[in-house]
Amino acid sequence: MGQSTRIITIANQKGGVGKTTTAINLATALAAIGESVLIVDVDPQGNASTGLGIERDDREVSSYEILLGEASISEATIQTAVPNLSIVPSTMDLLGVEMEIASAADRVFRLKNALRAQDGQFGYVIIDCPPSLNLLTLNAMAAADSLLVPLQCEFFALEGLSQLLKTVEQVRGSVNKNLGIQGIVMTMYDGRNNLANQVVDDVRAHMGAKVYKTVIPRNVRLSEAPSYGKPAILYDLACSGSQAYLNLASEVIQRERQSKAA
Ligand SMILES: Nc1ncnc2c1ncn2[C@@H]1O[C@H](COP(=O)(O)OP(=O)(O)O)[C@@H](O)[C@H]1O
Ligand SMILES: [Mg+2]
Repeated sequence: MGQSTRIITIANQKGGVGKTTTAINLATALAAIGESVLIVDVDPQGNASTGLGIERDDREVSSYEILLGEASISEATIQTAVPNLSIVPSTMDLLGVEMEIASAADRVFRLKNALRAQDGQFGYVIIDCPPSLNLLTLNAMAAADSLLVPLQCEFFALEGLSQLLKTVEQVRGSVNKNLGIQGIVMTMYDGRNNLANQVVDDVRAHMGAKVYKTVIPRNVRLSEAPSYGKPAILYDLACSGSQAYLNLASEVIQRERQSKAA
């Protein structure tokens, strides 16, 4: 990747918190303003691939072959129906990759090295992680400039976050000393729920400016869109969820500009 490519990993070891929804819609929003964007799906579930309309039969080369060191990023990249947005899809084969590369010295750096070998054709790379702190997520953290953490507005949010932040410290101490935190985005927010408001306040009190101003509302359009193989931003641009992801994208860009200027 060229100097100007920014690699953002979407991670949280909990499932169902909005990682994939955030990856797809943030990437689409960035593509919509003219950035060239690549999503890398490293979750064996392949929800980002499915949500962008990539059929299983069309995933001939995937992140699995990249982690094995058998394919390059460009060989695995598929153009999506969204202009400026490509994806490296995943398949269930990824379930076995940890065993297959366990003894390789560079096992944590396979994705990073593949992305490095690519020229600077992408402005942003967004990596969608599985719900676990396994070797796939470590590859994504080793490759990243920064992490974006979706946090569901629920009671145990902060507990899960502190576990994740410990892992980030370990990653900084070992495989990626420059790993930053782009930010924390509160997801599935329901303003009628007192607990949700309490959780948002608590997370802001603990994490301060790391938490984006934008909060992603609970919005059924966001959950319907993947079954049409479309980002919500294409499925229903006007819905509250799409609008929130557009706002999130502008905060992300603003932070990237600030970190470049620093
Ligand atoms: N803001 C939201 N409002 C309503 N449903 C959502 C929202 N964000 C995600 N979902 C739905 O919740 C489920 C889990 O979200 P997903 O993005 O797949 O989480 P993860 O990738 O962390 O497992 C999916 O069915 C998704 O469509
Ligand atoms: Mg997911």
